[in-house]
Amino acid sequence: MAGPKRYYVTTPIYYVNDVPHIGHAYTTLACDVLARFKRLDGYDVKFLTGTDEHGQKVEKSAQDKGVDPQAFTDQVSQRFRDLLGTMNFTNDDFIRTTEERHKISVQALWDRLREKGEIYLDNYAGWYSVRDEAFYAESELTKKPDGSFVAPTGAPVEWVEEPSYFFRLSAWGEKLLKFYDENPDFILPKSRRNEVVSFVSGGLQDLSVSRTTFKWGVPVPGDDAHIMYVWLDALTNYITAVGFPDEDHGEFQTYWPADLHMVGKDILRFHAVYWPAFLMAAGVEPPKRVFAHGWWTNEGHKISKSLGNVIDPIELVEKYGLDAVRYFLLREVPFGNDGDFSHAAMVARMNGELANDLGNLAQRVLSMVNKNCDGAVPRHGDFTADDQEMLDAAHGIIHKVREHMDVQGFNHAIEDIWVVIRACNGYVDRQAPWKLKKEDPARMGTVLYVLAECIRHIALVLQPFMPGSMSKMLDLLEISTEHRTFDFIGYAHALEPGRALPAPQGVFPRFVEDEKGD
Ligand code: MSP
Repeated sequence: MAGPKRYYVTTPIYYVNDVPHIGHAYTTLACDVLARFKRLDGYDVKFLTGTDEHGQKVEKSAQDKGVDPQAFTDQVSQRFRDLLGTMNFTNDDFIRTTEERHKISVQALWDRLREKGEIYLDNYAGWYSVRDEAFYAESELTKKPDGSFVAPTGAPVEWVEEPSYFFRLSAWGEKLLKFYDENPDFILPKSRRNEVVSFVSGGLQDLSVSRTTFKWGVPVPGDDAHIMYVWLDALTNYITAVGFPDEDHGEFQTYWPADLHMVGKDILRFHAVYWPAFLMAAGVEPPKRVFAHGWWTNEGHKISKSLGNVIDPIELVEKYGLDAVRYFLLREVPFGNDGDFSHAAMVARMNGELANDLGNLAQRVLSMVNKNCDGAVPRHGDFTADDQEMLDAAHGIIHKVREHMDVQGFNHAIEDIWVVIRACNGYVDRQAPWKLKKEDPARMGTVLYVLAECIRHIALVLQPFMPGSMSKMLDLLEISTEHRTFDFIGYAHALEPGRALPAPQGVFPRFVEDEKGD
């Protein structure tokens, strides 16, 4: 059975009809930070991401490019894998729905549902949106002046009539409501949970789960005129990656049910309604949580290919540096809300919080140590109440951060860390170690020791957010790699006075506009 120290986190698998953009980087970043946090906190983590390669949308994109869908998906899927390196993501697996392990898994799930009488053959006549890969009831659509209909997402829809297998979703409404009731944190944030509950309370209709008018997908076992609905195919990736249909051994035993499916708000219904219904119907335990995050706009405008304002994460990283981008995306917006990306906001966070608050603190303290304490961890005398309070605050951050991370409250975690950083800056000003240099060098040593120890803690807890920069900061304190987990928080592992330190270096440069002003 999965013990308490296991953590399985997943990103949605990305459609390969398009190259990666900021939205994809954002979802995966949130998962990466959680995965890193849990690893440092002693968990055995599985962090999964991948690509969603079947369905009409991908088939059409391949046709438009005049290439075979497999060659096309190979190419675009690689772009998503390249992004992982650029963003310093630490996924443990990368799944593609065109892999054989996945075909086996989806077909096994289908057989299971079929055997249990959850799937039946009929005809579908209704609206379908290829862009959303979703079926819509006419009541959900809006009529445009030219007489055509659009989905609530703004996507065009087409009328479809074809033989189709259906999943008895209508039979699962009450059970889903009971499940949400018994698992109040299954859907976060709470506002989104309420939306889902009211959608399900409104009554569910059986769901068409196969199509016969295109070929790019997993065939229905025993009836290969039918291709499985791409969402049934895609959602199953989460169990494929832990070895389904082998439920009795290995990774399935260790990691299922997943602790968290991270998704964007646009795909919550698939994850919080269809997916648990499929699983319960197949006799498989549903995941523990689905978190729906918000959407980014660009300088106040909706991001879209047709507007030509798509943000390329690689360009952002080249311009501002990776860790500043990672920090900004999780700091700027309360996680779960929509947010706006703007150059001004990015530079304000970089210069105000990273370069000034944190960068300067480390630079000031480490330079003083270098110049005045023989370039070694200072020796300290007895701690005053002020020292003690500062140290306790630094040692205590982990508790608050852990609580926030457990509910995906990234911005709150960062805010609490910044409370300590600002307190350190206040402490430096109050204690004025530069004055103590002449008046009381022993006391100066104690003050610098307290600060170095606080910086060690700040860097330890910030590692998941800014792994590269915090690794540099911990190098400057000469902390060995084995001593960088959360086990090393607190007095028992405090810095050893007298240990030689390397020459200090700045960790967060200020962002300066170049002369062209870009
Ligand atoms: N293939 C499906 C998911 C299947 S999971 C079993 C899919 N793929 S997607 O590539 O279209 O979108 C993936 C994620 O990117 C979604 O979580 C979506 O919310 C996110 N984003 C796309 N644009 C976004 C923004 N502008 N801002 C933030 N995230 C957005 O859906």
